Parts: sequence; structure tokens; C-alpha cells
Amino acid sequence: MIDLAFGIKKRMQKNPITGELSGKTLGMIFEKSSTRTRVSFEVGMYQLGGHALFLSSNDTQLGRGEPLKDTARVLSSMVDMVMIRTYKQSDLEEFASYSKVPVINALTDSFHPLQLMADYMTMVEFGKDKEPVVAYVGDGNNMAHSWLYLAAKLGFELRVATPKGYEVDKSILDEALVLANKSGAKIAILNDPKEAVKEADVVTTDTWVSMGQEDEKERRLKDFSGFMVDSSMMSLAKDDAIFLHCLPAYRGYEVSEEVIESHSQEVFREAENRLHAQKGIMVWLDNKRG
Ligand code: CP
Ligand code: NVA
Repeated sequence: MIDLAFGIKKRMQKNPITGELSGKTLGMIFEKSSTRTRVSFEVGMYQLGGHALFLSSNDTQLGRGEPLKDTARVLSSMVDMVMIRTYKQSDLEEFASYSKVPVINALTDSFHPLQLMADYMTMVEFGKDKEPVVAYVGDGNNMAHSWLYLAAKLGFELRVATPKGYEVDKSILDEALVLANKSGAKIAILNDPKEAVKEADVVTTDTWVSMGQEDEKERRLKDFSGFMVDSSMMSLAKDDAIFLHCLPAYRGYEVSEEVIESHSQEVFREAENRLHAQKGIMVWLDNKRG
């Protein structure tokens, strides 16, 4: 998928309209907000010659209680692929089990795999894909879980530092460790951000308050004290370390203004790569279906 994404990105420089998915349609179900995911899929599908439909749960019958399994059977009789951004991972899996067409995980409470495709592309472009040491500092959330899978699949070293009580999910970690055994990935679970960042090639973080956790905001902001990636934290990493953030970023909380602005080259390339990664995924799925 990533090879396809890089190929499409290169071809796009001459002409963004490539047309591989001419006549194809993508249904996009959003039960949570989005800027990057929505725009990259909509623009990506247009540039590939297809059409994307934005289906917010507020404006569809999903919001009035139509079961996911019915929506899955209806939509998949009309569109060629579906992407869903929702809360429970089990809802996405239920949808997929009733769908006749491929279903793409566009973020759940548990995972954000699309983001890691773009993050890895950015690591490659900044020369950080050869045995990198990656430090994830912050909440043991969907981003942390997807980093676990990326490291475990590709076999690199990942150190995840969270405050006590905000560690990654144990069963997801166990699954990642099984994969890591095969790939040779080294995964460390820590509570000290400085230990994680020491001599790292890539430092990354994410919001302390994910979508759906708004009620916990006050407590979380207190509990995450000391976990902001600021200049003194970055100075512990290698001199040429890159900083990644899936965005949106909350300056003064998980990252300082200075760090995000001094690493804006990486962070906004990472955001742009969402477009190319999305296209790689859609073309791959279409090729697979024949
Ligand atoms: N990073 C990311 O998924 O951004 P959006 O929530 O804006 O889609
Ligand atoms: N962890 C964040 C990621 C946003 C792209 C959330 O789920 O809200």
C-alpha cells in the first residue's frame, strides 16, 4: 500500500488527476469529527477519478438508531468501499462482517491505522526508516496502539511512555508482542517520558483528551503533567531527531509551541501524506477486488 502511495505521489507531481478509480464510489461514515481524514479521502477519491460520499451519523438514519448491520448491507450494495470513523472497535468489526465491500478503519477508540501509514511514509522521506528508535510520549490511546502494531510489523524499536493509569491496552500489547517476536521489534512500556526519548530518532505524541473523553478533560490535564514534549524533552533525543504529531495539536499541553513550530516541516508533511496514503490504500483495495 505504501509503495502504491509513493508511486501515486510521484505521478501526481505531473498531474494530480490520475483516474485509477474512475467510476468507483467510497462511502465515508463519520461518527466523530475530522479535518484531515475527510479531506484526504474526498480529494483523493476525486483525483483518482471516483466519488466519495460524506455520511455523518447526524444526517443519516444511523443517528436515529438504524442498526449498523442494516446500514452495512444497504451501503455495501451501492458503494465500492466504505470507511468508518467511530467509537467502539467492535462496531467497526460488526459493520465489516455484514459488508460485501472492503471497510477501512478511519479511527476507532482503539486504533488509528491510516495515520500510521502517513507517519511511516514521513519517516521514510526524512530518512528515519532504517532501524529507527521511536519514542511515543503521552496517552496509551488509539495512536499508541497503532504505533505498537507498526513497530511490531516492521520490526523497529518503540518506547511508549504514559503516565501511570494511562498505559496501553494489555490485550492489544500482548497481540503486538506476538508479532514483535517474529519481526524482532523491541517494545518498551515505560512511565518516564525522558527515558523513552533518550537518543530517539523519532519523537511523537498525541492529544491527552481524545474524541469521546471530553468529560475526563480536567482530570487528564492534571494527570499528564510532565508529559509535554517541549524543547528540553526534545534535547534528549538525537540531534537530528524528527517530531511527528497526527494533529490536531494542543499547544501548551502535549506539545509546546516551540517544538511543533520548529518541526513544522515534518508535521505538515505528515498531514499531507494522509492524502497519498489514502490513495494507496484505496487503489490497493480496488486491485485486490479485481
Ligand atoms: N489526524 C487525523 O486523523 O486528523 P482528523 O481528525 O482531522 O481527521
Ligand atoms: N487520539 C485522537 C486522535 C485524533 C486524530 C482521538 O482519538 O481523538
